[in-house]
Amino acid sequence: MKAKYLIVLGIRPDIINYQPLVNEFKRKKIDFSIVHTGQHYSYFFDRLFFKQLNFPKPDYHLKIGSGSQAHQLGNLVQKFENVLLKEKPDLVFSFSDANPALSGIVASKMGIKVAHLEAGMRSYDWRMQEEKNRRLLDSISDYLFTPTSSTKKNLINEGISTHRIFQVGKPIFEVLENFKEKIDKNKILEELHIFKKNYFLVTAHRPENVDVKRPLGNILTALEEIYKKYGKPIIFPIHPRTRASIKKFNLKVPKGVKLLEPIGFLEFSKLEKNAFCCVTDSGTVQEDTCIFKVPCVTMRISTERSETIEVGSSIAAGVNKIHIVDAVDKMVNRKSNWKNPYGKPDFSKKMSKILEKLDNEICSPKIWWDSPKINSSKSISEYKTKWKNSSIPDEIF
Ligand code: UD1
Ligand code: UDP
Repeated sequence: MKAKYLIVLGIRPDIINYQPLVNEFKRKKIDFSIVHTGQHYSYFFDRLFFKQLNFPKPDYHLKIGSGSQAHQLGNLVQKFENVLLKEKPDLVFSFSDANPALSGIVASKMGIKVAHLEAGMRSYDWRMQEEKNRRLLDSISDYLFTPTSSTKKNLINEGISTHRIFQVGKPIFEVLENFKEKIDKNKILEELHIFKKNYFLVTAHRPENVDVKRPLGNILTALEEIYKKYGKPIIFPIHPRTRASIKKFNLKVPKGVKLLEPIGFLEFSKLEKNAFCCVTDSGTVQEDTCIFKVPCVTMRISTERSETIEVGSSIAAGVNKIHIVDAVDKMVNRKSNWKNPYGKPDFSKKMSKILEKLDNEICSPKIWWDSPKINSSKSISEYKTKWKNSSIPDEIF
């Protein structure tokens, strides 16, 4: 392949989910560079994942760090432009919906082609920065790599041409396969003195849940109820955002809840795989648990992972205490024999084949770099239809 790729990552789940693609690029000796925006930087959010996933060191580090949405976006626009000017890639990869993915917008503005991984996911929840990010990305991306048939349908319903959509499955499914042995060998259960199927695993970090006292208080009281009812330890590797809020709102962590610092991918996956039930507001955890066939209660009123609800691996319970406890009761009594909606763990092979086919197109300049010689006898509406279908009007060349 001739194309030069640029991969942009910045947060914990980015590092995890890019693993299969980066592995495939290394295997096929493809020309690629990695840019780290630096949104996550603490050891347990960042370097630990590079280490455990044997992930190559980024070629560029933008050191953006924490701050407001405007701080993260503004710095990304300025700093990423310099990388693009230097690297001149043919294609920039943006992953999913967190702020590092907005790098795709910078690339697109500079006339560089953009591939969006995990395109088409929709929560239809406008409170979430992530929903805004994914819609922005999907609307400007040249290639939309979508995980499932329902996410593909979302894109088609929004008028995106099928020429640009490629259904490639879930990277996380392949990651969990690639690291199966290491996950199984991990000793976190012994270290925590807990037993298979005899503990709850909890995560919470969504701003709408943890930046406000009431929902966070509800989550903690729900955990108190769950411990009273089931008597099983509740393991809670806590996001720094959530720890800071518990302190700020002077909330009490209930008996039975064991708070941990955030833990590595191998430790966390081992805990997920063997949990009695997971209670979470994370996106990726909804997918992991669906794949591991572990019951999941999603503490949100919306989800972009609607497949997990449809197959029955998760219930969207919101953050009302009674609803969370009810959902736990339902999920732990449900048979974990749901169908895995993510196809096969062959995301990187599918990606590789498609990129090979698109290689010439990816390497050719973006069509609007050349000024079109429009045949004035054609009506504008004819051109519009052609552009919409992503076919290049012949007259341009
Ligand atoms: C971000 C993503 C979210 C994703 C999550 C994964 C956006 C808008 N949000 O949320 O979609 O689900 O990552 O975990 O992009 N902090 C540290 N160390 C770090 C990073 C952050 O202590 O390495 C603390 C800081 O106090 C910071 C807070 O965590 O203010 C929030 O971090 P931030 O990156 O802004 O958002 P996340 O909640 O992590
Ligand atoms: N994860 C981890 N350690 C933790 C919590 C989560 O390794 O302490 C992993 C987990 O395996 C999952 C991913 O991080 O694959 C989920 O990331 P997160 O919940 O931070 O983000 P989201 O998926 O919601 O964007």
